[in-house]
Amino acid sequence: MKVGVPRETAGGERRVALVPDIVKRLAGDGFDVAVERGAGEAASFPDRDYEQAGAALVDDAYAAEAVVKVQPPSADEVARFREGQILIGFLQPLTDPEGIGRLGERGVIAFAMESIPRITRAQTMDALSSQATVSGYKAAVLAADTLPKFFPMLMTAAGTVAPAKVLVLGAGVAGLQAIATSRRLGAVVSGFDVRPIVREQVESLGATFLDLGISGEETAGGYARELTEEQQQRQQQALEGRLPEFDAVITTALVPGRPAPRLIPASAVAAMRPGSVIVDLAAEAGGNCELTEPGEAVVREGITILGYTNLPSTMPFHASQLYSRNVLALLQHLAPDGQLKLDWEDEITSSACVTPKTEVAA
Ligand code: NAI
Repeated sequence: MKVGVPRETAGGERRVALVPDIVKRLAGDGFDVAVERGAGEAASFPDRDYEQAGAALVDDAYAAEAVVKVQPPSADEVARFREGQILIGFLQPLTDPEGIGRLGERGVIAFAMESIPRITRAQTMDALSSQATVSGYKAAVLAADTLPKFFPMLMTAAGTVAPAKVLVLGAGVAGLQAIATSRRLGAVVSGFDVRPIVREQVESLGATFLDLGISGEETAGGYARELTEEQQQRQQQALEGRLPEFDAVITTALVPGRPAPRLIPASAVAAMRPGSVIVDLAAEAGGNCELTEPGEAVVREGITILGYTNLPSTMPFHASQLYSRNVLALLQHLAPDGQLKLDWEDEITSSACVTPKTEVAA
């Protein structure tokens, strides 16, 4: 099977779907890889490395049988597909039904990385987790960089500096990484999640579980269920009382396909100490903080609120490397030995496909 890697065109996107090392693996597995010139440049993977790895450098990566991407294709890019072609990428199936509809009308057989079931067998394909790891790390680093204080405790001749106190709300993949990174930087860390099972994971990283007296349910897929209106209000009130204790708050709370839960109302921001920092990783889904402006850094009530979106793209080298491994695992699943063999009875293949499941012409 021939796999095409186009250059990403979405604003601010610096990642690439396949890195040279993985191209080499694919070539050894019976795939042909065609990479658009300059596709890896923004992630620090030059064309010559792709050539050495066995890829063909091309002007049009959409001619391949399967196209692998990071971001969903734009309407113009969808128009470059032909019927029966395979697409793999983050396609936002829960929030962009129009985009998925366009792909379906074009006859593209599209696999969304977000729709791969989170089962043990599919762990190597779990791009939500690999990219959330990058976001969680970067959120902690941003908090440390923005806070007008040290993260670690310091004992110096000029006196002792108390460690920063960090609170991480939402302890899924990104939150746990933010906890681990904040701890490595020397902060005293607390974590909270509505899924009770997470307490042990937070504590195993050396953080304290913040008891807000609220716990929610977990779906069969391991995700949180949305809290009821009444639970949400109780959560906001309980948090408002506790937030002034913390120097930095990293929020990662998400419910798939829903607007991000509102954890921090404006009144709670006003109650925090001046100079404190909120890093809102849920900004893309509307934000966990009422005052977050997606894509922006703002100062409100003396508190800096970072609502940057697409943090994985700010660390494009490793984010692409991890993503590539996820794509490699999915390609090997869909096309063992480089020959496309779609088995619609298979849970991974059928769940990940977000367009009508058609047969591919041989
Ligand atoms: P996510 O990005 O959808 O959500 C982040 C976190 O926000 C979750 O832990 C969720 O419980 C929490 N949350 C939602 N509403 C909240 C609220 N009101 N207050 C506080 N926290 C709230 O989730 P993510 O990180 O993608 O994964 C969630 C879970 O999925 C994992 O922790 C794990 O249990 C499961 N998972 C399983 C995998 C596997 O078995 N292969 C791989 C990865 C994740």
